[in-house]
Amino acid sequence: MNRPIRDNPRSEGAAKPLRLLFSRDPRLRGPVVPAGPHLLSYGIVSDEVSEASYWAHRYREGEASWDLGGPCPVFVALLASRHAPPRGKVAFPGCGHGHDVAYWRAQGYDAVGFDFAVRSADPPIEPLDVFELGARHPHAFDVIVEYTCYCAIDPARRTEYATSLHAALRSGGTLIALLFPVEARADGPPFGIDVAEIPDVLGAGLELVRLETPADSVGPRHGRERLAIFRKP
Ligand SMILES: C[S@@+](CC[C@H](N)C(=O)[O-])C[C@H]1O[C@@H](n2cnc3c(N)ncnc32)[C@H](O)[C@@H]1O
Repeated sequence: MNRPIRDNPRSEGAAKPLRLLFSRDPRLRGPVVPAGPHLLSYGIVSDEVSEASYWAHRYREGEASWDLGGPCPVFVALLASRHAPPRGKVAFPGCGHGHDVAYWRAQGYDAVGFDFAVRSADPPIEPLDVFELGARHPHAFDVIVEYTCYCAIDPARRTEYATSLHAALRSGGTLIALLFPVEARADGPPFGIDVAEIPDVLGAGLELVRLETPADSVGPRHGRERLAIFRKP
């Protein structure tokens, strides 16, 4: 069943001004944009996106157009930089084929993926609904890495997803999120993301450490992603 949600004529079809594009200030803390209604229209949201069978079907039919076939270059650059998190337990919710899981493991992290449509022993990918991550693995991870799962789930469930990730993160742990696509879209997945909701929704209750437009996004995603790093108090 399809249903229109959060349709907002003010933003329909219009390029939304991005309110916070870049910050390298390590002292930045808390929400840095005013809280309030987020202006994106998500168009038609099918209940299918909440079903593992939908995603399994897309993998089976070779319709995994999101799959980079290797690690995301933004994370490769991050791990090579002084901002790389310390080695520890890392979770990748909605990791797909787990290219990033494999790469982080090769870099010395105890990384594991979670995906309800993919299961694998190497790299380790546990079949799990990401909305259950917090309940199944409370305070278990030093780092959680979000990439293209936030835009894949039903946008009405984003707060629920954020709550699950926060619960799985230990106190003092780090949430690294590469958000794509930060634009209004007529439909999805991927469902559009308002830059303002990155701290307001995904980072609610966490400390914002960095929010920037990464230089290393893959070609078609260039300028359409934001890298956010949060710390759990
Ligand atoms: C757009 S794909 C991205 C995959 C991977 N992050 C990548 O970049 O290649 C979204 C992934 O999230 C998974 N997913 C979506 N909703 C999920 C849920 N509720 N629980 C677990 N996995 C989910 C899908 O199975 C799919 O593998």
